[in-house]
Amino acid sequence: MPRTAYVNGRYIPHAHAQVGIEDRGYQFADGIYEVVPVIAGAFIDEDWHWDRLDRGLAELRIDRPVNRKALSLIGRRVAGLNRVRDGLVYVQVTRGEAPRDHKFPTKPVPPALVVTARHLPVPKDLSEARMIDVITGPDERWARPDIKSISLLPNVLAKQAAAEAGAYETWMINAQGEVTEGSSANAWMVSRDANSGRVVLRTHPADRHVLNGIVRTALVALAGQHQWQIEERAFTLDELLAADEAFQTSSGNMIRPVRSVDSQVIGKGEPGPVVQEILDGFAAHVAAHGGV
Ligand code: PDD
Repeated sequence: MPRTAYVNGRYIPHAHAQVGIEDRGYQFADGIYEVVPVIAGAFIDEDWHWDRLDRGLAELRIDRPVNRKALSLIGRRVAGLNRVRDGLVYVQVTRGEAPRDHKFPTKPVPPALVVTARHLPVPKDLSEARMIDVITGPDERWARPDIKSISLLPNVLAKQAAAEAGAYETWMINAQGEVTEGSSANAWMVSRDANSGRVVLRTHPADRHVLNGIVRTALVALAGQHQWQIEERAFTLDELLAADEAFQTSSGNMIRPVRSVDSQVIGKGEPGPVVQEILDGFAAHVAAHGGV
């Protein structure tokens, strides 16, 4: 079945979908994007995705191309036209097309909106623990990775480094020796507090230095209901290597337990009880949305 894309008000065959060569996204990476997971036809945590898109547009002073209701309808239409019941809807907004000049166009141009959808096989059971191996590398991104900018070159290079090392993901380490996040996922570790024996889940605070992931947001929101002790506090590589468990979260791949970091096995090297609880809790959250 031929794929269909939405480009600036038109639904067109994917193969013929185009934006101009002077689109500022193409020339300057002057734009932002969202990836919304679709599971069993349900858009998971959709509003949080549109909230983050709105925030990014405001930060970059790009006009909203369409209102939220229209965007949601376009996303659904593109998913429907492509028969995507399990997969991802990709939304990209750039500052639009204008003669190349670093500063914003003096004559206002409409922002460019592109929406595509693609099928992604979802495991039958979302609770299934599909482990991954991770390597680490320096965080070489700009100082505002909290904005979901399409400027992803350091992320691309980090992911490529993982692939070349036979791993799935690179977790990035900042100048202070702390793990910020993965090239396309938030990073988590689980450990037992030496004094209290309390099991603690740690992830970098959602400040300017990481993307506030929507799956991450969902876990923070679900924590109370499941008695998960989440601490939004950065951790070092040494702390990570000594962790009982580790995992990552993203809309592209949901929750993935980590077997090893830089070839060193984490915990027992198998899915631990805490990550299994997280997988089960998130699967229930998706089911409550009407997914799976
Ligand atoms: N990546 N951190 C980074 C750098 C990311 O690129 C992503 C998502 C996340 C997790 O965010 P969320 O839970 O909202 O998916 C964290 C998407 C999926 C991508 O670029 O394809």
